[in-house]
Amino acid sequence: MRNPLVIANWKMNGSLVDNSKWFDDGLSYLNLYPISKNIDIVVAPSFVYLSQAQQYISHIAAYYNIFVGTQDISCAKAGAYTGEVSVEMVKDFGVRYVIVGHSERRTRLHEDDVLVAKKVQQVLSYGLCPVLCVGESIEERQLNQTKDIVSRQLSVVLKYCKDYQETDMLDNLVLAYEPIWAIGTGEVATPEQAQEVHCFLREQLAETISVETANKIRIIYGGSVKPNNAKELFMQPDIDGALVGGASLNADSFMQICALSEQ
Ligand code: PGA
Repeated sequence: MRNPLVIANWKMNGSLVDNSKWFDDGLSYLNLYPISKNIDIVVAPSFVYLSQAQQYISHIAAYYNIFVGTQDISCAKAGAYTGEVSVEMVKDFGVRYVIVGHSERRTRLHEDDVLVAKKVQQVLSYGLCPVLCVGESIEERQLNQTKDIVSRQLSVVLKYCKDYQETDMLDNLVLAYEPIWAIGTGEVATPEQAQEVHCFLREQLAETISVETANKIRIIYGGSVKPNNAKELFMQPDIDGALVGGASLNADSFMQICALSEQ
């Protein structure tokens, strides 16, 4: 039994004032819909707003499974890495989930599979949950390369995290299948398209690690998830939640998506 997981990826949006309003609104929608403790909810603001988000979340953490997350992390432990932020630092702010290898970082900031794998390794080593993003471009999909791409992205990470396979630390891994052509475009993958890739990823986890671990690891979908398309996606057997960008900027839309994830 995998608990649903819904993550708000705010990207480079927000301000002290706007975030306060989001949390105030969010609290009333949490009560309105209502959202149970079975759903893991994560809000991933920019690093600079972690403290603010953590303060809001600490007030309601007794009633909901709600956590702060980050959108990226350094692959290094500490030291002379100007501008970087370490896992140990964000752990200080109660962070539980760390998004790694988002396609915007892979494409615009040239993060490669090895760097992404080292980040995942770093997050796991602190007992936190890396949310590993994988996904193909539209050209790759048209060339029928979707499975090759996501399989390569996952296999590099699993190779680097081989040591954790002996322990149950890999249970903390979360995969986010995010087809690049669906991110921020309004064009969502069909539930069948998404399910096919999720199922394929779970099979790869089962072959490389174990069936038991594969059944525990959550695989969430990202790419234009909205309240009006979330339900069909969540009905698929291997879709365990969502990574939500645009729609997460509105507390009402985001909490509606959270509520739908439990059905
Ligand atoms: P979107 O973004 O929901 O705006 O498509 C998803 C993501 O980039 O994680």
